[in-house]
Amino acid sequence: MSSPELSEVERKGVNSRINSALGGLIWLNREWAIVSGEDLQTEAIQNLISLWDLRDYAAMKQILMLLQKTAPLRSTIFQGQRATKSSQKDAQKLHDTLCGVCHVHNYGVSHHLPAYDLWKISSRMSEGEFLSRLLNGVRGTASNALANPLTVSDIQGLMWLYLSRTKE
Ligand code: HEC
Repeated sequence: MSSPELSEVERKGVNSRINSALGGLIWLNREWAIVSGEDLQTEAIQNLISLWDLRDYAAMKQILMLLQKTAPLRSTIFQGQRATKSSQKDAQKLHDTLCGVCHVHNYGVSHHLPAYDLWKISSRMSEGEFLSRLLNGVRGTASNALANPLTVSDIQGLMWLYLSRTKE
């Protein structure tokens, strides 16, 4: 969050992305509860949002650690290795016609909400972190207005594309 490589305006953008991600958590949790049959974690997430308003990072971290235990992201479902040949092809097409149109920026640009090069960001973080960003980033924001258009096999394809395949 305080990376020195970010420009001032990007730094402000990070704040709005966190706001958007926190809103996204409610949606993700709802999806998760349907799939897992477990209880919703609405109260914990509401607390998290209130603590973000107070910028109480220590308390936020505690809730997040608890949520990771009570509502874990089952990342193996989304692994790129599971992508079939046809979802690999679909992911490539999706990138060429949609994602790649916006995701072209490098770090340090003077944009409020830059859409970074997805190969570059995937190479800078763990697979789990990239998956979380993918689930949240593609979920759709005011800026890209994509309303959860992706299926599990789409996500597997995109994980394959951005993590397993190197850019030519
Ligand atoms: C209309 C432009 C646009 C399109 C199309 C688009 N994105 Fe994005 N995306 C953005 C912007 C802008 C952000 C950053 C701002 C934000 O997080 O709201 C973003 C954020 C993300 C993030 C989070 C990155 C991070 O730093 O956490 C991921 C991952 C992502 N997009 C993947 C995709 C994929 C995959 C597609 C294609 C299915 C796609 N996006 C299509 C504009 C776009």
